[in-house]
Amino acid sequence: MVVARNAHRPGRPTVLVYGHYDVQPVDPLDLWASPPFEPVVRDGRIWARGATDNKGQMLAHVLGIGEMLGREGQLPVNLILLFEGEEEIGSVHLGDFLNARRSELACDIIAVSDTGMVAPGVPTLGYGLRGIACCELVVRGPAGDLHSGVYGGAVMNPVTAAARLVATLHDADGRVRIAGFYDDVRPLAGWETEAWARVPASDDDFLRQTGSPSLFGEAGFTTLERLWSRPTAEVNGLGGGYQGEGSKTVLPSQAVVKLSFRLVPDQDPADILRKVKAHCHAHRPAGVAVEVVEGHSGDPYLADPQSSHGKAAQRALRRTFGREPVLIREGGSIPIINTFKQVLGADSLMLGLALPDCRIHAPNENFTVENFEAGIRLNQALLEEIAGE
Ligand code: BES
Ligand code: MN
Repeated sequence: MVVARNAHRPGRPTVLVYGHYDVQPVDPLDLWASPPFEPVVRDGRIWARGATDNKGQMLAHVLGIGEMLGREGQLPVNLILLFEGEEEIGSVHLGDFLNARRSELACDIIAVSDTGMVAPGVPTLGYGLRGIACCELVVRGPAGDLHSGVYGGAVMNPVTAAARLVATLHDADGRVRIAGFYDDVRPLAGWETEAWARVPASDDDFLRQTGSPSLFGEAGFTTLERLWSRPTAEVNGLGGGYQGEGSKTVLPSQAVVKLSFRLVPDQDPADILRKVKAHCHAHRPAGVAVEVVEGHSGDPYLADPQSSHGKAAQRALRRTFGREPVLIREGGSIPIINTFKQVLGADSLMLGLALPDCRIHAPNENFTVENFEAGIRLNQALLEEIAGE
């Protein structure tokens, strides 16, 4: 954890800026046009792993603060910078750190730039995040790999069993079939439906962004609703048996499925993982054993964008981009944001400037120079607007 602060004075609001300097793995390396850890500016974009998620955006905070200090000799608020290096693996130590330093990190509001904008030039305030629960299914069959001719037909193939089990997770309309999965899903508030209707992101935009032949998701909901207000079950990886060139007549001894569930208020990751386990055992194909290994998880988050700090953030966005901000929830997860609320009692304003085509977590991650510079201005405007309340 890296913590920095200015001299705090009574009577001023305290703003904590959170960011993370760890990044996702860079593989496959051969798909990068330039080395991921040698940032270059090309075509108006900074290309590097972490350019957007989240090092470039953290740097915009630091440079914004530096400009203000250079110009005015002081900041208008009490400031705490908190940068960690474990966000992408679920912030496994930050919760304990917060608990141990509650008073040192006490603040009124948290600013987070680890999120995105819906489209270039469209100021975006995020007031919600999906939560997450991860697990791995280990499907075990024969004690070792077998000859698929000598034994094929006599025992269950674990990869076939894994595929069958995965196929039980959804119905044909994309609804998750795990018993009780939707029990605690809070319905969308009326004002959100109205706010989201103003978000300039069409199905055509999502088709273009994803490159998929068509969109697909839980029946009965719009794409934005599916992304921001509905939980999902995703297969992140499925493997087992021979994956090399050509064929190899093997009957594999096991298969592994990596799953993650995106969660919304008021779902509880531990409760969801219990339901996943029950589902996997109830739907275990005959002839294999299934073990569910729990991974990391994080709670969903929801705040009021019309709180006094939310309004200050909207003013800062309006000043920076010269137009009315849109209010969104994010489909991604930042597990520590809910922990901030629980331990420090402070809400988070999500003011990130990631664009839909910035390729976070993928090869050729990039951050537009335009947004980098906007971030430097936005972070100053935010401190001024919070100070001026
Ligand atoms: N910055 C992302 C989350 C994000 C991306 C939020 C885009 C909003 C818009 C963050 O670094 C991330 O990827 N988090 C992981 C968390 C997980 C590994 C616990 C995620 O969402 O998969
Ligand atoms: Mn991030």
